[in-house]
Amino acid sequence: MDRDIKKIETELKKLYSNLEKAARSGELPLAEVSEDIVPGEGPSSAKVLFIGEAPGAQEQIERRPFVGRSGKLFRKILEEESGIKPELVYISNIVKVRPPDNRDPSLEELAAFKEYLDKEIEILQPELIVTLGRYSMAKFLPKVKISQVHGKLHKVKWEGKLNYILPMYHPAAALRATKTKNAFIEDFKKIPKIIPWIQEQKVLLSNQKSKPVVKLTPLQKEFSKSDKSVDDLKSSVIEHLF
Ligand code: URA
Repeated sequence: MDRDIKKIETELKKLYSNLEKAARSGELPLAEVSEDIVPGEGPSSAKVLFIGEAPGAQEQIERRPFVGRSGKLFRKILEEESGIKPELVYISNIVKVRPPDNRDPSLEELAAFKEYLDKEIEILQPELIVTLGRYSMAKFLPKVKISQVHGKLHKVKWEGKLNYILPMYHPAAALRATKTKNAFIEDFKKIPKIIPWIQEQKVLLSNQKSKPVVKLTPLQKEFSKSDKSVDDLKSSVIEHLF
């Protein structure tokens, strides 16, 4: 079903304006003025939502997510190596204000910004959520280790709804170690395969409601072949219900 893009745009604007209002009125930790808020960025029609941790110094200056050192690496791989169309991508953070000295966000800060990220997800309804680093991963997959699950697609029931989550390393970790950077790039490259797969899953699910016998779609047949990378991807889809 086609979504009303104008409505999504309006709702996102309202969300960020509410965040700025909360910042001005001292309701949010870390923030004092509207300009402290770094909103999410991307087209309202995006299908993939990348969620980072919190803005750094450059993000705070430009009021844009992922424009500092690690952000530049993230955007370079996204544009040059991932094969994902830019019009599909929305980028945001769990915490939308820079913590001092780029320290990790506290539990109180994560809790204070939760309702805004939840609302962002509700408005965007992304087909795929890609978590960057362990903080955004823990929102959906609280009991796992990033080294064990990065690049594996998870089917998660979260807030009563089915979500597809792909945990990835944070680009700052990719900057620190070549091995992590290579894994980061490989995980990125799976996304263009995952999106049509998810779309087919949805069609299949809605068909299942009306038809008791389910036939494999052409893409699923493709996934059943013995291409190693595709096999890895298929077997990594797990149910994670909580
Ligand atoms: N790191 C993040 O997690 N988010 C940003 O926006 C920048 C760096």
